[in-house]
Amino acid sequence: MMACLCRVLQQRSGFGALLRERDAVFGLAGLAVRYHSTQTAPHIPGMDYQDAVCTLNTLQTNASALEQVRRGRSHPQLQLQAMRGFLERAGLTVEQLDHLNIIHVTGTKGKGSTCAFTEQILRTYGFRTGFYSSPHLVQVRERIRINGQPISKDLFTKYFWQVYGRLDETKEAHGGTMPAYFRFLTILAFHVFLQEKVDLAVVEVGIGGAYDCTNIIRRPWVCGISSLGIDHTQILGDTIEKIAWQKGGIFKPGVPAFTVQQPEDAMAVLRDRAREIKCPLWVCPDLDKYPTDSGPLRLGLAGQHQRSNASLALQLSHTWLQRRCGPDKRSPLPDPENHCVSQAASFKPSSVMVKGLADAEWAGRTQTVRHGALTYFLDGAHTRRSMQACIQWFRETATQHERNASGAVVRVLLFNTTGERDSAAMLKLLVPFHFDFAVFCPNITEAAASCNAGQIEGP
Ligand SMILES: *[C@@H]1O[C@H](CO)[C@@H](O)[C@H](O)[C@H]1NC(C)=O
Ligand SMILES: *[C@@H]1O[C@H](CO)[C@@H](O)[C@H](O)[C@H]1NC(C)=O
Ligand SMILES: *[C@@H]1O[C@H](CO)[C@@H](O)[C@H](O)[C@H]1NC(C)=O
Ligand SMILES: *[C@@H]1O[C@H](CO)[C@@H](O)[C@H](O)[C@H]1NC(C)=O
Repeated sequence: MMACLCRVLQQRSGFGALLRERDAVFGLAGLAVRYHSTQTAPHIPGMDYQDAVCTLNTLQTNASALEQVRRGRSHPQLQLQAMRGFLERAGLTVEQLDHLNIIHVTGTKGKGSTCAFTEQILRTYGFRTGFYSSPHLVQVRERIRINGQPISKDLFTKYFWQVYGRLDETKEAHGGTMPAYFRFLTILAFHVFLQEKVDLAVVEVGIGGAYDCTNIIRRPWVCGISSLGIDHTQILGDTIEKIAWQKGGIFKPGVPAFTVQQPEDAMAVLRDRAREIKCPLWVCPDLDKYPTDSGPLRLGLAGQHQRSNASLALQLSHTWLQRRCGPDKRSPLPDPENHCVSQAASFKPSSVMVKGLADAEWAGRTQTVRHGALTYFLDGAHTRRSMQACIQWFRETATQHERNASGAVVRVLLFNTTGERDSAAMLKLLVPFHFDFAVFCPNITEAAASCNAGQIEGP
């Protein structure tokens, strides 16, 4: 997979920027040292957190060897069947997942931030939230959150061994197969959310939709599709239509779905998918269409481009609240036979929603971190389009910082891409910033410790 890191550092009055791609993990030196020290802690071999993460990583290593073969050969439909098998071996049933009150979100760009806004809004209402996302930045625990916080090492360790143990015990009877990394984590997340009795779970699709292992869920309360673009072409297909077809695969009969404005060819496919699956599909209005008492809605995530994600999050949380908590639970929906894609109505966001949008955070995505004289600007852009959005954000934010700086400013770029991305094309876009230095870092999490951060690969 890919990664791109850039960092701009300013010495003296300093600031820095770090752009991070989806699957890149940047090892800030301070963090690496902290993890390193846990290496020497005494532990019972085979059961502690480090062992859990190392064992988890063997699932990926072993799986990646098989991946090529499997992708080429097997019918994608079989992947969901296999996932159900693993889920059952882990002691869970698909029916149990119905109780998680799921909001299911896919998209090419912005699905993570849409989820982050949605989760923050519903948490602000006082619900106990589960949030499953990928990839992680530093530690694998970031992917499974309760009330916005990555689950603790203790909880991760406890639930990891419960799920791993059950799968391992049943391995012999199933030809020695174990779920690959992302499947395992998905099962683990469901297990954690059930055990921890969350009121709802926001679940982000790994790749695509139709055959993504999160798509074993049958009854989400509402689905969302953020902006579609071309990515993961080897898995999803090389046209926007093929990609839209995959993503529309998360639609469920009678479950309302929302999407942001899409290119017409993508929208046509989503419309067909919605009709075929019999799901009502709505397009979100612009964020400035929502009436407010106090001027434009403020967003916790920087950048103009987040506004459509925020609108999508408003629709998702509004619909979830209405259907889950309103008087018309699982109410009958508009007749799916004769519906076409309609424009979703804007509404006046509650004060809780306004606060939720303003408080939302999403680490590593247009994130600014101040550390003494340094400021890091972090982003995981990894397509041409997301690089452009990132550049616009960086130009605005960094310019502001530089204006306030009291001494000389040094800009350092820290960059890496993984996979087959065209890093030269991305770097070209950064030329106008005239970085004083560029650091091309490796694509590994940290040099200090071997596997305690978890694998960096995404789904
Ligand atoms: C992965 O492969 C190694 C070596 O073949 C084996 O020892 C290990 O048990 C395997 N892990 C899993 C989870 O199957
Ligand atoms: C949502 O946010 C992402 C970045 O997280 C951005 O790339 C995308 O353009 C935004 N808008 C939409 C419609 O998804
Ligand atoms: C990291 O870079 C090396 C060398 O370019 C490459 O072989 C490896 O696949 C990369 N890792 C990831 C996760 O992309
Ligand atoms: C990313 O890191 C890998 C080594 O981990 C290196 O081989 C590759 O050249 C780096 N790519 C860029 C664009 O810096």
